[in-house]
Amino acid sequence: MDSYWLDFLGLLVRWLHLIAGIAWIGSSFYFIWLDRSLEPPAPGSENAKKGVGGELWAVHGGGFYNPQKYLVAPAALPEKLHWFMWEAYTTWLTGTGLLILVYWLKAGTMMVDQNVAVISAGQAVGLGAGCLVVAWAVYDRLCKSPLGKNDALLGVVVFTLLTALSWALTRFLGGRAAFIETGACIGTIMAANVFFVIIPGQRRMVDAMRAGQAPNPLDGKRGKQRSVHNNYFTLPVLFIMISHHYAATYSHAANWAVLALLCAAGVLIRHFFNLRHKGIYAWHYPAAAAVMLGIVGWWTMPRLAPLPPVQGEVNFARVRSIIGQRCVMCHSPAPTFPGITVPQAGVLLHTPADILQNSQRLYQQVVVTRIMPLGNATQITDEERAVIAAWMKAGAKPE
Ligand code: HEC
Repeated sequence: MDSYWLDFLGLLVRWLHLIAGIAWIGSSFYFIWLDRSLEPPAPGSENAKKGVGGELWAVHGGGFYNPQKYLVAPAALPEKLHWFMWEAYTTWLTGTGLLILVYWLKAGTMMVDQNVAVISAGQAVGLGAGCLVVAWAVYDRLCKSPLGKNDALLGVVVFTLLTALSWALTRFLGGRAAFIETGACIGTIMAANVFFVIIPGQRRMVDAMRAGQAPNPLDGKRGKQRSVHNNYFTLPVLFIMISHHYAATYSHAANWAVLALLCAAGVLIRHFFNLRHKGIYAWHYPAAAAVMLGIVGWWTMPRLAPLPPVQGEVNFARVRSIIGQRCVMCHSPAPTFPGITVPQAGVLLHTPADILQNSQRLYQQVVVTRIMPLGNATQITDEERAVIAAWMKAGAKPE
């Protein structure tokens, strides 16, 4: 398919992904809030006799709502029961679609980074697809193992393993792709929790009740555990989905540790809110998260990597020739780099005027963050980066 139409398909899929993700995470936030805010009915009251374990009153959009949660289940199920699953499935399907469109189909430039590891595009895709399956298999076994009975310890083990996974991914893939793949693994775990555990468990409970049997409370408990995990995954996964805007994080030498700090901060902030719904204000959690975010801010501040000394004269002609050799194939009105049909990020570098106009941006990308050329696809040398740095330092003059 023409690369333009692939990009346009990407627009539609990304839009839908965002919409479904908002619906899914919104309902996750809502139900955790609901669960934590419920208050038990007065002993001996009508509701207590019906089996209601907790209820609350809320006002929203001009109406009054009175949700009630039953301990295990009500005596009889109503005909119409609302299920929540399509938000999760749609988010996962569109997310995987995006992963394929943006990363796997362009793995040579979007996933492989010559400075990280010399692997083929096929190997990068294999790694990216394989880690989704392995992450779920390992996580699911852990939850079902005896460790699954200790929620706090399980949380620490899952976090450590996911950090190890992102570390491993950063050994083979460019930082940006390694981050997105880590996020895709978490997203896959979340959607698989809904598909393989929460919904089947609910189905068994409903079937048992419709058949006049008592539902297995274990199904409810297991579903709850996975649903709480999903809730804690939300903030980390949301950061990862926007991480590609923040090159300072994914291009850092210890990018996996930066990601671990950001995700830990997200989990702690989520935990604070989950406790707050119960009326507990545990401020030390957001305080610890703020310290972690402060460390990330300081740690990812641009520091220039040492560059070799420049031999010979530094002038505009030399800079132009480097750009002509290393950048123009992706940054001209008619790019010649395989698979690229429009100037990337709208940045043009094919005329002297364009180079001068974009000098500050290109300096940022080539010398400060070293993201360009993307994945060092055109194999720029450190000396060439040094030439650009020296030219900028001398005032980026057109001569
Ligand atoms: C293999 C193709 C490729 C090559 C070669 C390449 N770029 Fe890029 N460039 C891209 C892509 C893709 C983006 C958009 C990245 C994104 O979506 O964040 C981009 C974005 C940029 C941006 C905009 C980043 C921003 O957010 O401000 C600049 C500036 C840039 N490139 C400069 C360069 C320079 C300078 C070189 C040569 C040293 C270069 N590029 C070589 C593919 C390439």
